[in-house]
Amino acid sequence: MRKYLAHVRGNYQNLGYEEFFATLEAENINYNVEKKGDQILVFETNQNPLVAAERCAFLHSILSLISIGSVDEDELKLHELISMPEIQDNKTFAVRVKKVGRKQIKKDLPQLERELGNFIYENYKSQKLKANLKNPDYLFLGILIGKRMYFGLEIWAINWAELESREPGNRPFFRPGAMKTEFARAIVNLCRIKRDEMFYDPFCGGGGFLIEATTIGANVIGSDVDKFAIHGCNQNMKFYKNNFSSIIRSDSRFLPIKEVDAIATDPPYSIQSSTHGENVNNLIYDFLIESRTILKKDGYLVFSSPAKHRSELLAERAGFSVQKVLDTRIHKSLTRRIIVLK
Ligand SMILES: C[S@@+](CC[C@H](N)C(=O)[O-])C[C@H]1O[C@@H](n2cnc3c(N)ncnc32)[C@H](O)[C@@H]1O
Repeated sequence: MRKYLAHVRGNYQNLGYEEFFATLEAENINYNVEKKGDQILVFETNQNPLVAAERCAFLHSILSLISIGSVDEDELKLHELISMPEIQDNKTFAVRVKKVGRKQIKKDLPQLERELGNFIYENYKSQKLKANLKNPDYLFLGILIGKRMYFGLEIWAINWAELESREPGNRPFFRPGAMKTEFARAIVNLCRIKRDEMFYDPFCGGGGFLIEATTIGANVIGSDVDKFAIHGCNQNMKFYKNNFSSIIRSDSRFLPIKEVDAIATDPPYSIQSSTHGENVNNLIYDFLIESRTILKKDGYLVFSSPAKHRSELLAERAGFSVQKVLDTRIHKSLTRRIIVLK
């Protein structure tokens, strides 16, 4: 089995880990975790983990691990070296070191970068690997946590521009209640939807979740009670050239659908997105009861709600098994709770 390191984004670490675990499960990748914490996940697998990582919004990068070392008395020591079959002859490389948390060593990061650079140069001399800091073929990354150094070859990094292109403000139809793309993406990933499966969002609004599910390769159905939302959602789906979607005007408490593989949604809860006069708790409870009639056996339903509403209790009462509760602080008066149900 090969060893990898996933570098998780620092601002919402728990969400980052859970999103990656969900995508590994969705892509049927077996793995063993060696270390989880401090923004990193060291794991082993004999399958390709990039098919899962490429779906994620809360990972920075994936490294193919070369060594877990240490900086003792300011001397860099690399232990348990792993060979790198990826490296081809006559290519170029650069080394970057990032630190997580407080620096606990005297040495500065550029110095460590130079030492690691020399190490790579010496080790791949026979393959004529040369340094090129501006435009390297290979980027080696050292992640320094306290006095420990995790060192590897970057084999995937998040594409910020691609996520940005789907932000609510970049869509033809936009309403203030729409969630940022990275969260919509992570919530869709948490429902473990797979390519060609049927995904459903019963409070689809402008279609943020539907857009994310289609980029994963799912077929999607969206519904909303509001006719302007339906019109806007159709516009957005056309803009992202999605021909495999059905958008229906419907109340989420009376669903005109037979069976779906997974549900992810962002029900209304504030002045920005109206409940159309209905009590929020009643609406969520009724939608959960109705969803149970269309969700396939062992399918996941993921939804978000303000933490203070404690909507996971409604989900239990509606007969779901609560798998995870993930809190993400959005601003002073909103902590968004993401509730993963089966
Ligand atoms: C927070 S917004 C969803 C935003 C959406 N995720 C997006 O990307 O634009 C909630 C949506 O729920 C809809 N809604 C409110 N009550 C509903 C009901 N009873 N059935 C279906 N949709 C409803 C609202 O019209 C609104 O569009």
